[in-house]
Amino acid sequence: MGLHFPSERWSDLQRGMVGAASELGFGEVAACIDCLLAAPLSKAQLQALASHLTVGETYFFREQKTFDALAGSILPELIHGRRRREQSLRIWSAACCTGEEAYSLAILVHQLIPDLKDWRVTILATDINGRFLQKAVAGVYGEWSFRETPDAFKERYFQRAANGRYAIRPEIKKLVTFASLNLAEHVFPSVTTQTNAMDLIFCRNVLMYFTPLQARKVVDHLQNALVEGGWLVVSPSEASQTMFSRFVPVNFPGAILYRKKAVPEPSRPSWIPLSDEPMGFFAPPLEAISRWMPLPPTAPLFETPPALPTEQALAGPPPTPCVLATELYQQGRYAEAADTLLASLAPHASPDPQTYSILARALANQGKLTEAQAWCDRWIAHDKLDSSGHYLRAVILQELGDHEQARRSLQRAIYLQPGHVLAHFTLANLARNNGDDAGKHFANALDLLRDCPPDELLPESDGLTAGRLMEIITSLVALESTP
Ligand SMILES: C[S@@+](CC[C@H](N)C(=O)[O-])C[C@H]1O[C@@H](n2cnc3c(N)ncnc32)[C@H](O)[C@@H]1O
Repeated sequence: MGLHFPSERWSDLQRGMVGAASELGFGEVAACIDCLLAAPLSKAQLQALASHLTVGETYFFREQKTFDALAGSILPELIHGRRRREQSLRIWSAACCTGEEAYSLAILVHQLIPDLKDWRVTILATDINGRFLQKAVAGVYGEWSFRETPDAFKERYFQRAANGRYAIRPEIKKLVTFASLNLAEHVFPSVTTQTNAMDLIFCRNVLMYFTPLQARKVVDHLQNALVEGGWLVVSPSEASQTMFSRFVPVNFPGAILYRKKAVPEPSRPSWIPLSDEPMGFFAPPLEAISRWMPLPPTAPLFETPPALPTEQALAGPPPTPCVLATELYQQGRYAEAADTLLASLAPHASPDPQTYSILARALANQGKLTEAQAWCDRWIAHDKLDSSGHYLRAVILQELGDHEQARRSLQRAIYLQPGHVLAHFTLANLARNNGDDAGKHFANALDLLRDCPPDELLPESDGLTAGRLMEIITSLVALESTP
């Protein structure tokens, strides 16, 4: 889980272990610990530990100044920039606990976008603690959760429920999607879990429970999950120049927020469009490719003597663009990965599946969904029988809000490869997001996963293992059954 207990928190650790041991049926804490250390953790053990060792302190509009910065500046600017263009917004509450943070964000979005039905808004809320997530999905809260909430919000966005509690209104509830995610596993960003291309990530009051090294790794991955110019929000007590050195700190009254730096200018590609279209990296439609041609070689100004072989030349041939792009992709350098591939593609070449896959995912992770889809279309036009192309097209269409086309692409992927576990999983998520029954798709995915070794990496998943996906599905199925 990445949790670190310094000596001043050993009493918390001890208390948590006593609770976990009793829940797991052990009379003796030491016997429980021996058993946990002896073998990889089972799902039940991990959930018991998560529910006894994590801290569940949260409330609506916690750290009001941060929400003031969002409401007064960041969100209006984002919304203005997207209005009458893509009209989309992607927000992630990355340790959402019992849901107050995610619903606070949903309330703000609801207030700031009056024509919400014409927008594609994603508010993803994840946590490692399944019990917290169940409460979040139920969305019913006591007074203590409103300790800093202006009354007007409570009246406007909640309905009175039994025992003096308050239930979040359905129009706010449906804006948030809850899922299980362990931040310490670093399986994000990924189009599979929709943890990519975020405009805004809230990761508050959780990094403080990790070691500095673990926290830095998490921050690196969160940075990769943001679009260029996207915002990372941590708690004021977690602000740190060293931890967030790859971000630009931006001061607001009473809050420091971190903005993802712009990537360096893309390197010049070796071929350029002949039309006067802007020199972006938009994948051209197939029929337009003939209008593209290589740049003439640049003539040197002075003749230079042949250079001595460099160390690199002596070390062997340079990596192919695909190998280089894959490495850049794995480091989260999506713009450079895409540029490397685009610069290397000859106009009439037929790239291999890995090139298509990295290119489409690198574009999707930058939020360039239409371009990513265009490359998937080209992949499929080149090889209709590759289920991976259909799968990737589906997850991108899902993000674009075209659920019907996404569903069809998933069905094609499954037709071509009935054992395509991620396609079954994504079909389930589509059904879940549309309020349909996801049960049979989750069951299909679980059946397939039972035949896989837990450590097996699932292709196209950005690092998800079969065992972890099984845990994610089990927790989603449990959330589905939450009233
Ligand atoms: C103190 S709460 C913070 C809730 C909310 N972000 C806020 O600031 O009000 C910390 C949350 O981090 C979650 N958490 C701890 N370790 C985690 C991990 N490895 N992955 C995901 N969530 C984790 C806990 O379950 C808990 O819900």
